[in-house]
Formats: sequence, structure tokens, C-alpha cells
Amino acid sequence: MPDTVTTQAAATAADTTAGPLLRVEDLKVHFPVLKGVVVQKQVATVKAVDGVSFTLNRGETLGLVGESGCGKSTTGLAILRMLKPTSGRIVFEGEDIARHDKGRMRRVRQRLQMVYQDPYGSLDPRMKVGDIVGEPLVVHGVAGDKAAYRARIAELIRLVGLLPDMAERYPHEFSGGQRQRIGIARALALNPSLIICDEPVSALDVSIQAQVVNLFMELQERLGLAYLFIAHDLSVVRHISNRIAVMYLGRIVEIATRDQLYKEPLHPYTQALMAAVPIPDPVLEATRPQQIITGEVPSALRPPPGCRFHPRCPHATATCKTEDPPLRDRSGGRAVACHLHA
Ligand SMILES: Nc1ncnc2c1ncn2[C@@H]1O[C@H](COP(=O)(O)OP(=O)(O)O)[C@@H](O)[C@H]1O
Ligand SMILES: [Mg+2]
Repeated sequence: MPDTVTTQAAATAADTTAGPLLRVEDLKVHFPVLKGVVVQKQVATVKAVDGVSFTLNRGETLGLVGESGCGKSTTGLAILRMLKPTSGRIVFEGEDIARHDKGRMRRVRQRLQMVYQDPYGSLDPRMKVGDIVGEPLVVHGVAGDKAAYRARIAELIRLVGLLPDMAERYPHEFSGGQRQRIGIARALALNPSLIICDEPVSALDVSIQAQVVNLFMELQERLGLAYLFIAHDLSVVRHISNRIAVMYLGRIVEIATRDQLYKEPLHPYTQALMAAVPIPDPVLEATRPQQIITGEVPSALRPPPGCRFHPRCPHATATCKTEDPPLRDRSGGRAVACHLHA
């Protein structure tokens, strides 16, 4: 029936604009550990990302925090398909891209970009800044004629708060903060809807960090961008995030709005991360309770049984040592994986 076909087509078209911009479902990224020189044998598996699910809305910033090694970068790289997911779904703009080949990813990459942590290592030192910023336009065949290409580069450079004549200079002539702005201009070149920002201010001086975070926020407002904003501590994501996901050993242990999370962190690990964030008031800072977290992050090679956080948790019970708590939905759209909040 033609009517049904039309309705279905309309529904499919609508699906790409309705619903979340990105939906990650039970994403797993496992790395084999190989041994042997001539014949390699898999001797173990690093479960870097081990069942991660979340959604990200249009124009939203989702902060992704957790200690070093918990799987944040691997999550980001898998979404960008710079790493192959072991399993799970990655639905971006209504399309599951988890198993896309290079050719199909090429089209998607126009809408899905990345800003890296290291503003020194991520820019080609032999290229002029203008060509670094404009390269995605050339690669995707949308550079246009020389005048259009130059104009677009000037526009992008201005957008990130630099001067257009800087296009003729080389990366080494710039400070860390300026280089990060160049990286952002490059990420913006193809008009993405989502930028994955992997610790984009961690390598910068604290005095510069706020400026770059503010730039991200201004650009979001002007361009309607969404960010997955990765950081290893909560102080950086507080300002910029609408919602925050807390990761521990390959899993999300808590996800909530920024205000819910700061007002009432539920997971003991979130509470511990929160205790590590300095309070700007020196009197409060001096009187607040000592940090409750102890011990090192266990290896992703051998995650502890039961709740992965139990060896470091001050509230662990017998159940926590044997039963793995699922990420359960709570009221107000938040979710937590903890037996204390069953
Ligand atoms: N290519 C790889 N091969 C093997 N193990 C890896 C690889 N990349 C990351 N890992 C391991 O996966 C875990 C998560 O790493 P990563 O995602 O970089 O964490 P984060 O970004 O949170 O610091 C770590 O244990 C790391 O050693
Ligand atoms: Mg990382």
C-alpha cells in the first residue's frame, strides 16, 4: 500500500532528527593480549570498555569522567570508529555505525569529529596552520575554489578567537592554548553535530584551561554543537556539562545531570571523585572531610569479581564482593550501579 510506504519513509526521515543524537548500547571494546614472536597466541584480554550505554542529545554536553585507564579514550575512539568495537550499537543521527566500513564512515565523519588531548603532537609541524584547518575540506572534496577555501579558513580561524593572518604561520609559533584553538577550528571545518573532546584542556596551564572551556561553550551556543567531553577529574567538566557519566574500569557507574551529581552523588566512587575536587573557599576546603578513596585502580586485565569498585569502597558488603550491580535507572533520569542504591 503506497500510503504505508509513504508513512514509513516519513517515519524513517523523522527518526534521524528525533531522538538522541547519539545512543551507545552495551558497547564493548576488548583488546587481545598476545604472546610469542613467530606464532602469536592470545594469552589474555583487556576489557577496556565492557558494556557502556548512554545517550547524548543534540546541542548537549555529556561529561565523561574517571581515573586514567578506565576506558574513556577507548570509548571515544570506538564511537569515532578509529577503534573497532568488539560488540554493541553506536547509533549516531539515527544510523548504527558500529560496523560501518571505511567508505561509509567517511560520510559520517563529516558530522562526527574529535579534538585531541595533546595540542603539541596532534598538529603536523610541517603544515601551515591554514592548511591544517582546511585539510578536512580537501579530504572530503568540499574545499571549493581557492578563494572559497581561503575564506572558509579565515572564518574558522576567527571563530576560535585567532587572527586570519595566522593561517600563514606554523604550529611551533603558537602557545598550547592557541594550538588547541587551531585543533578546534579543524574539527569545526565540516560542520559537525558532535565533537568528541578527549581531555582537550588537560595538557594546558590551569590559567588557559578556563579560556578554552569557555570557547567550547561559546561555539556550542553559536553552532548548536554537542560534545562528549572527556576529563579525568570533575572540576573540569563541572562548568561545561549538562549531564555527567562517571566511568570506572570499563563501565559507567553513575550518570546524572550536573546538578544532581554535585548535589547528591550516589555512587561511592562518584563521592570519592567529588572529595578530590578542591573547594574554592579556603575555610570550607580546610574543614571538609578527608578523601575517602584508597588504593590503585585494579587492572582492566583482571577486574575484581562482584562490583568492580568493592576493593576500594568504604561501604562494601558481602554482596558487593560477589554480585555485579547493574546500572539501574532512578527517578529524575539518573542511573547508578551500586547495591547500596538498589
Ligand atoms: N590498543 C590497546 N591495546 C591494549 N590495551 C589497550 C589499548 N588501548 C588501551 N588499552 C588499555 O585499555 C584500558 C583503557 O585505556 P584508555 O581508554 O586509554 O583509558 P583512559 O582514557 O580512561 O585513561 C587501559 O587498561 C589501557 O591500558
Ligand atoms: Mg585517555
